[in-house]
Amino acid sequence: MKTVLQKLCAGDDLKIPTLPAVGLELLRAFKDDDFSIRDLADTISLDPALSARTLSMANSALYCLPYKVTNVEKAVSMLGSNTIKNLAFSFVVIGGFKTFALDNFNMDLFWKKSIIAAVAAETIANRLRKEQKSSFIVALLMDIGRLVMHRCKSEEYQEIMKDEEEGTFDRIALERDVFDFDHQEVGGEILKKWGLPDTIYMPVRCHHMTKACPPNFRDIVMIIELSHLISIAVLDPKNPNKVVLKSLKRKFEDLFGYNVGEIKAALEDIQTKSGDVLNTVNL
Ligand SMILES: [Fe+2]
Repeated sequence: MKTVLQKLCAGDDLKIPTLPAVGLELLRAFKDDDFSIRDLADTISLDPALSARTLSMANSALYCLPYKVTNVEKAVSMLGSNTIKNLAFSFVVIGGFKTFALDNFNMDLFWKKSIIAAVAAETIANRLRKEQKSSFIVALLMDIGRLVMHRCKSEEYQEIMKDEEEGTFDRIALERDVFDFDHQEVGGEILKKWGLPDTIYMPVRCHHMTKACPPNFRDIVMIIELSHLISIAVLDPKNPNKVVLKSLKRKFEDLFGYNVGEIKAALEDIQTKSGDVLNTVNL
């Protein structure tokens, strides 16, 4: 039986992105508690562009150092392993998709939204003390299936985007109508192909359907759903989507008992934190 990717790309594997070796190595840092600062620095040193970016971050005005950091290990220990893992992985994944030229698709906007969602997911996971290891990556990668659908079947996917713009917001239904499958399945299959663990590809495979998700992945999917709403609200605060805001308010109230002022403060905090990551990846 054909897989979703075989149906979509008709065996043209060149259209399916691969994760660079340094990205796979970085993933170990997220899974393995024994991964030290030294290991992380060694991994980053495998990629000259990533090393340069790490050093420039450590030397940025943000840290106001009286001296220049020229050693990756020193930069990693200064910035902290968690920050550096997230920044490095975002940098590598976004770089891996640089060759994707998609018609009528704003790639920068796509990654901006993904990064805001990733920062939001990590913030919520830390606050809830749940799913702290994988939330950032799952949120960052949740919609990559859309990129591959667009690349393999550009005309059909642009039709779906047009319908969305005209007000039909149920993307999953639109995709299933045309393809018989959706971007959750495509994304999940790509991540599985990359060798990522089920703690990452399973939540991606059901990130729009918490109830249909196996029970052990429901917490992370709940976090990802909220992070998706936050990314929409943070990305375009001057043009608020009423449906999104209403849903956001209800979820924040249910989870944290936040009032309107606290929700506003939480969104501003996520906006500031995302700004640092966006600067690092040049978005
Ligand atoms: Fe999605």
